[in-house]
Amino acid sequence: MKIGILGTGVVGQTLAARLDELGHSVTMGTRDVAALMARPATPRAPAFSDWHKQHPQVQVSSFAEAAAQSELIFNCTSGVGSLPALEAAGAHNLADKTLVDVANPFQPRTAQSVNDPPALSVCNTDSLAEQIQRAFPEAKVVKSLNTVNTALMGTPQSVGGGDHHIFVCGNHDDAKAQVTELLASFGWKHILDLGDLTAARGLEMVMLLWMRLRDVQGTSLFNFKIVR
Ligand SMILES: NC(=O)c1ccc[n+]([C@@H]2O[C@H](COP(=O)([O-])OP(=O)(O)OC[C@H]3O[C@@H](n4cnc5c(N)ncnc54)[C@H](OP(=O)(O)O)[C@@H]3O)[C@@H](O)[C@H]2O)c1
Repeated sequence: MKIGILGTGVVGQTLAARLDELGHSVTMGTRDVAALMARPATPRAPAFSDWHKQHPQVQVSSFAEAAAQSELIFNCTSGVGSLPALEAAGAHNLADKTLVDVANPFQPRTAQSVNDPPALSVCNTDSLAEQIQRAFPEAKVVKSLNTVNTALMGTPQSVGGGDHHIFVCGNHDDAKAQVTELLASFGWKHILDLGDLTAARGLEMVMLLWMRLRDVQGTSLFNFKIVR
């Protein structure tokens, strides 16, 4: 399948690499290709250009080109960047396509808030996924994969033999079925459909718990398992 990945951070790179490995044709979208390729490594992440040398078959283009060329699109941009990135992608390039929203609406840290617990820019009675669906009513938004670290996103068996859960929600059953099939191809064994897109409120808010679990355990290599 032709798949667009909007976002070039660790999430975009992880999903692009995994989808490419599975034989999909992948195009990543960014604000400025030349700037991205010239961006140096940081203490937290290698340079994108070095990652791309390992994955030369992955195309890199503008948000609009990546969306236009693709049959299914992942939003892997920052919470605050998601609506601007999707606007740059263009509503007409998202229409009638499944849009998998992996983003979390964390409030950006400021010098004043850097030591505070993480906070969300939207929650409780709304969610980023619903904001995206309202802004792009012709897209078929499915929230998924936002509740797991990249280390297990495309390779769930890397923790607990894959015996844990991933969630999907959205208003379009055909889009959820398409995402469920992709997740199964990644190796997800337990895919729980939470119903319509209002379930994204819980999927995004649970990240405050996830962050605390990461801090107290000292690792991101864990996931939720629903036991009845
Ligand atoms: N890290 C994880 O393990 C993990 C797991 C699940 C979900 N998530 C969520 O996945 C998303 C991606 O995370 P990440 O760590 O890979 O990357 P990130 O640093 O959160 O986001 C990077 C991407 O956002 C784009 N972006 C930022 N501000 C923008 C703006 N104003 N307008 C348009 N685009 C903008 C950047 O575009 P350029 O390419 O142009 O710079 C870049 O592609 C986040 O929402 C995160 O919360 C992360």
